[in-house]
Amino acid sequence: MSIHIGAQAGEIAPAILLPGDPLRARFIAERFLDNAICFNQVRGMLGYTGYYRGKRVSVMGTGMGIPSQAIYVNELIREYGVKTLIRVGTCGALRAELKLGDIVLALTASTNSQINKLRFGGMDYAPAASFGLLLKAYETAKRRGIPVAVGGIYSSDTFYNDDPDWWKLWAAYGALVCEMETNALYTLAAKYQVEALSILTVSDNVVTGEEATAEMRERSFPQMAEIALEVAP
Ligand code: HPA
Repeated sequence: MSIHIGAQAGEIAPAILLPGDPLRARFIAERFLDNAICFNQVRGMLGYTGYYRGKRVSVMGTGMGIPSQAIYVNELIREYGVKTLIRVGTCGALRAELKLGDIVLALTASTNSQINKLRFGGMDYAPAASFGLLLKAYETAKRRGIPVAVGGIYSSDTFYNDDPDWWKLWAAYGALVCEMETNALYTLAAKYQVEALSILTVSDNVVTGEEATAEMRERSFPQMAEIALEVAP
């Protein structure tokens, strides 16, 4: 057991999918994994290990935002020896041409979080995806005919913003979408020399105001989960 994860040693696979929502972790386990066991219920942050086409893989919720996710990522790597972490999350598009349900692979993530400013004494750090995972995810999406965009994104510490134009600066500098976790995931993966990738589905468009319906989310989430399961080593 670690402080926030109730699993016994060996119950978590070396590759894990990380949705923010623990109920999505349960959905992935029930829909895609054979012989899944639940290894964590601490704080309701459900985690499962099972087999996807014979490959042992885990899935666990992280909660929303960098601080919550970073607690789980630290413990998964340090206490359970996880080597590949694939975030499967939703994002808000910062470009009008990105459609609801499109998939985005995050090359890197800028942020307004102060965590890396503190870590690097006020200097900047450029966190990056694992190229091997990213390439495999890109090829898998293309093969399945799923629209996919690749580029820099923006990880925000805030979901609600006072300034309605907050997103324009990031869009002007090329960020494709916003979400709330990837900057820290990539930083921690670099620190511990493990592999990480964020696969994101567009659930809303900040430019046009479009929002995915529950039915659209239900349709697009499994596609993203399947890409992640294919990519997991
Ligand atoms: N902002 C931040 N995180 C998000 C959004 C958003 O608009 N949509 C999905 N995750």
